[in-house]
Amino acid sequence: MGRVSSLYGTSVGKKITMAVSGAIFVLFVMVHWFGNLKVFMGPEVFNHYAEGLREFGDPFLPYGWFLWIFRAVLFLALVIHVWTAWSLTRQSWAARGTKYKKKESLNIDAASSTMRWGGVFLFLFLVFHILHLTTGTLNPDFIPGDAYHNFVAGFQSIPVAVFYMVCMIALGLHLYHGTWSAFQTLGIDGPRAQKLRRPLGLIIALVVAGGNILFPVAVLTGFVS
Ligand code: HEM
Repeated sequence: MGRVSSLYGTSVGKKITMAVSGAIFVLFVMVHWFGNLKVFMGPEVFNHYAEGLREFGDPFLPYGWFLWIFRAVLFLALVIHVWTAWSLTRQSWAARGTKYKKKESLNIDAASSTMRWGGVFLFLFLVFHILHLTTGTLNPDFIPGDAYHNFVAGFQSIPVAVFYMVCMIALGLHLYHGTWSAFQTLGIDGPRAQKLRRPLGLIIALVVAGGNILFPVAVLTGFVS
């Protein structure tokens, strides 16, 4: 335990923490996207899927427990990711006084600051998203238990649909740079990995952003109604 906390105290330890907690989110976003694709199979399949998430684990877990365990893990990953980002930011502000920075480190500074602001924006998106599609607080047409209806009604509002699209582009950019820096942090930067990390980051970013933008577009064009 002591070794873990002293590793966390170093900036390499913090970056590893960012990479691992970020990877949990990437995995979640992929699975979430895959699940949301069921919206193309109609209301019955989609609502059955949403209900299935609550029933999952039966008969070993009481109703809804799986979802709560899942939410707790995600919440913990989010808190760790945000807290560590904040801690790294403070470290980098403290080091800012250093004169004679090389051009390369100025570029890294600009990328980190984009990641920070992008992260704040994505956090606000997540809060909005949960209030919009899970609790329905910000969705005037929300019907509890009818996930398909809430999905369609939610994206029929043009400002909301556009907001989601912008957020998904921000998510793509965040993942592009995040994947790139995770590779470096985890020491995966041999000649082959260096060649691979840009295309891999690009593929993840395009699949996640493009794949998710598909949903509001499908509703706005009437393909899903
Ligand atoms: C356009 C893209 C997206 C669509 C259409 C979408 C759709 C949905 C829907 C329908 C729900 C409610 C599920 C239910 O209550 O049964 C939901 C919940 C949620 N979504 Fe998304 N989502 C999108 C993108 C994202 C992204 C990018 C993230 C993470 C960064 C995310 C994180 C969550 C979380 C954390 C929940 C709450 C899960 C829960 O605890 O019930 N979503 N989403």
